[in-house]
Amino acid sequence: MIVFASRTGNVRFIINQLQLPNIEMTKGLKLTEPYLLFTYTDGLGTVPQIVEEFLQDNAEYCKGVIASGNSNFGHHVFCGSADKINAAYQIPIVRKIELRGFTHDYEAIREYYQTVIKGGKTT
Ligand SMILES: Cc1cc2nc3c(=O)[nH]c(=O)nc-3n(C[C@H](O)[C@H](O)[C@H](O)COP(=O)(O)O)c2cc1C
Repeated sequence: MIVFASRTGNVRFIINQLQLPNIEMTKGLKLTEPYLLFTYTDGLGTVPQIVEEFLQDNAEYCKGVIASGNSNFGHHVFCGSADKINAAYQIPIVRKIELRGFTHDYEAIREYYQTVIKGGKTT
């Protein structure tokens, strides 16, 4: 499963390309199986509020974080959401993606998903 949050449609676009099991983040969502988190990045490299709240209840089963960002905001805050989630919860960063990303980004996500989520590997 990939749980995603998308504000302006870029993450949603990638999710549609991936064709992997997915669910859009909603308030109160509770996951009881391993999943990947896919988020956008908010101002100054921050984690969107909905994602912050979601993680307070759901960090346990999160096996990796993917972030979309825009490098025009600057190197230090590009996909800063992934860095902040990694620092707070020690969740591995799967991929940092520029806007809607490229084919090699999608391939990297699929590979990680197959190994860690479908394969059930926990490290
Ligand atoms: C108000 C605002 C602030 C943003 N701040 C950052 C940022 O600090 N770092 C970054 O990498 N991207 C930043 N972005 C870019 C978005 O994370 C990026 O466009 C992403 O692809 C949006 O995903 P979505 O279309 O699924 O919502 C910002 C976008 C907006 C609208």
